[in-house]
Amino acid sequence: MKLPSIDRWGSLTGKRVLVRVDFNVPVDTVNGVLTVVDDFRIRAAVPLFHELMSRGAQVVACTHFGRPKSAEDVEFSVAPLRRRLEELCPDVELLENLRFNPGEVANDFEFGRSLIEGFDYYVNEAFGVSHRKHASIMVPPQLVPSAAGPNLDHEVAVLLGVLHDPVRPFVAIFGGAKVADKIDLIKVMAEKADTVVVGGGMAYTFWCAEGRTIGTSLCDESRIDICRELMRTGKVLISHDVQALPSDAPFGAKGGNETPTICEENIPDGWQALDIGPRTVAAFQDVIDSAKTILWNGPMGVFEDSRFSGGTEAIAREVAASAATSIVGGGDSASAIKKFGLQNEVSYVSTGGGASMELVERGDLCGLRALRESPWTPS
Ligand code: 3PG
Repeated sequence: MKLPSIDRWGSLTGKRVLVRVDFNVPVDTVNGVLTVVDDFRIRAAVPLFHELMSRGAQVVACTHFGRPKSAEDVEFSVAPLRRRLEELCPDVELLENLRFNPGEVANDFEFGRSLIEGFDYYVNEAFGVSHRKHASIMVPPQLVPSAAGPNLDHEVAVLLGVLHDPVRPFVAIFGGAKVADKIDLIKVMAEKADTVVVGGGMAYTFWCAEGRTIGTSLCDESRIDICRELMRTGKVLISHDVQALPSDAPFGAKGGNETPTICEENIPDGWQALDIGPRTVAAFQDVIDSAKTILWNGPMGVFEDSRFSGGTEAIAREVAASAATSIVGGGDSASAIKKFGLQNEVSYVSTGGGASMELVERGDLCGLRALRESPWTPS
């Protein structure tokens, strides 16, 4: 996919450039101050800022941060992000949270117009939000010369490249809680990949489709039929044993120290599966071991609780150790790979969770279309 690049602009002396970034990063209170705890997305934008400034531009960045309901939700102020950006790149101003204005999410043309007013150029370096039809993504390309930032461009090239012509065997690994979020993607992958591995909470809807009992584990009744169809392709591999706890036992942030029980094939009433079991880990490892291309999105269990992180960690280590081209697609799997210190052992960690999965599923994003269809983009 050819996206317009900043290269064609040459000198930017005296020009003002608005860069849409995705600084939607985790923050936590450290010594009483709200602090960025993972600055990956901020650091990734710095080379672009330097490049634009070295050509003479004045650079202003804008981002959303969380999902505030209004500007009164002050905990969503970009103040902690500004503090981190100031340490990394003091000459770039960061506007206040775009979502403080309801026009952002509503894709209001007037809000988009007011945002870009006074700027000569616009760069979209916000891959993680380029699947959202929001004003800061959709409107500026209609009004000023616009380009894709280098990270956005690279991310799109990597993800589309792997789908277009994967070296086989191509294994897609899915996990996470909700089957509804990823079922369309799993359908696409059942066509493109050689094996689709399904773990995490979403696997129990597949268990239901096979007629197994799942206790109080997650099941999306409206997706049972489609899971059954997917099982018939013969390409979907699901867990066959799991680690479970009684449903009323505390876990995760709530604490609790009960030792989980391994359930095979069926989960008794009143029990909830929270991680894959050892037989499943071994079966998944075998498939990963044979792969030449791997796409991984979503954890195998509640990996935030150390009693249930074993499955996700084993899969993360297997993916990292594999010689295959391995792409970790955003969100929780990116956090997991970082938690286990493996981010440099995989070929690519995508910055966008929802965006990367939508790109893989549909082959395009509205924010990419907006850049391509900008009147200034050469055909
Ligand atoms: C992300 O963190 O995945 C992106 O910033 C998108 O955030 P959103 O899901 O709130 O639009």
